Amino acid sequence: MSYYVGNETGQTPGVIPNKWYEGSVLFLCALYYWHFTGDATYNEEVRVGLEWQSGDSDFLSSNWSQYMGNDDQSFWGVAAMTAAELNLTEYGQYSWLSLAQGVFNTQTQDPSNSGWDDTSCGGGVRWQQYNYMKGYTMKNAISNGLLFQISARLYRYTNDPDYATWAAKIWDWSNEYLINNQTWEIADSVNTTQDCAAQAKWEAAIYGLANKTLNEFFPTKYGDIEYEPTCDPFPTQCYDANNLVFKGHTSSWLGFTALLVPQIYKDIMNRLQTTAKAAAAACTGPGQDGNQCGSAWYQSKYDGRTGMEEQISAADLFSVNMIPFIHSRPQKHLAPLTSTTGGSSTSNPNAGMNDNTHKKQFAPVTTGDRVGAGILTATFVVGLIGGVSWLFTE
Ligand SMILES: *[C@@H]1O[C@H](CO)[C@@H](O)[C@H](O)[C@H]1NC(C)=O
Ligand SMILES: *[C@@H]1O[C@H](CO)[C@@H](O)[C@H](O)[C@H]1NC(C)=O
Ligand SMILES: *[C@@H]1O[C@H](CO)[C@@H](O)[C@H](O)[C@H]1NC(C)=O
Repeated sequence: MSYYVGNETGQTPGVIPNKWYEGSVLFLCALYYWHFTGDATYNEEVRVGLEWQSGDSDFLSSNWSQYMGNDDQSFWGVAAMTAAELNLTEYGQYSWLSLAQGVFNTQTQDPSNSGWDDTSCGGGVRWQQYNYMKGYTMKNAISNGLLFQISARLYRYTNDPDYATWAAKIWDWSNEYLINNQTWEIADSVNTTQDCAAQAKWEAAIYGLANKTLNEFFPTKYGDIEYEPTCDPFPTQCYDANNLVFKGHTSSWLGFTALLVPQIYKDIMNRLQTTAKAAAAACTGPGQDGNQCGSAWYQSKYDGRTGMEEQISAADLFSVNMIPFIHSRPQKHLAPLTSTTGGSSTSNPNAGMNDNTHKKQFAPVTTGDRVGAGILTATFVVGLIGGVSWLFTE
């Protein structure tokens, strides 16, 4: 408290110069101190400072509006909530509880305040309150976490279910966009200009799916060589064209995934390289040059199967194995383009919607269709990795 001069002549109560929100932090510290020691020495300064900064019962003083963050405002709300919960004597115009409610109300339902915002990312509290501020386009952990805390504590104090509804709503949003509920790591923030694409949700998905794919289809027992369990071990039974090209899809999508998600580049490329060596040893079948590729690469020799699908799978694999060797284009530039990174293809959001000639009658579903649907589902799992990694921006 010896750093605190807000109670001196010519100073402003509650103000720490250039660090407005820290006034609330100092007062919280003094409240905890009083609560656990019984020493009320600083309570008067806390009361005066909280009261002075309270604005119209919302801690939105125009003095600080030019850089007001929802987190700044909420810290003051938490201080007021704490004062209520610890029964700090009241004497001012506003009760401690009503000050916390003022913060809650302005951030959840005041249209002139950009707190909770449904216009991007399906909700969430913005970091800063005005659109000329850098933090306006961000939704961050501290702003959402503090409003969650205020809502939950208001519910606990008042038993009013509206506060519980809001606490759950903020939690659910945060859980989707900021919290990785596998590792319990929490992202600092997500950016509304990308509709919050770089999210914990997708991070968990990309690592989980990539892990599963690498563990399942590049088994250690076959030296990390790519392996199709429903086909490769059964050369006389497996002539399904789909199964024979799946290793191609898997290799190429993993290759692009490696380019988009540098964190797992090594895990992927190491296995694709090991696989390429084995596949090359399997490309010793018949054909013009004696180089037709078999299918069961894990055997590191030609297995007797020949066909377009086997060639596609091997070619897909060898193509992505060029990635580490293309020195003329940095890996960053090998990643798929977008409309803002050099892609020049024009967009028509209504494409295909203006004629009826494509409409056709649907034949009844057959057993063959159902088998096909099962295979498509298997493909979908691999495709999901490719799709998820597209969302995972650099
Ligand atoms: C301001 O508060 C501090 C800490 O409680 C105290 O030591 C100091 O005497 C106060 N100053 C005035 C002018 O009240
Ligand atoms: C706002 O600034 C004026 C002028 O410095 C000051 O008198 C007043 O106490 C300040 N109010 C708050 C809430 O900081
Ligand atoms: C991926 O698998 C490795 C073991 O192969 C494990 O250590 C790691 O925690 C897994 N990561 C995820 C996100 O599942």
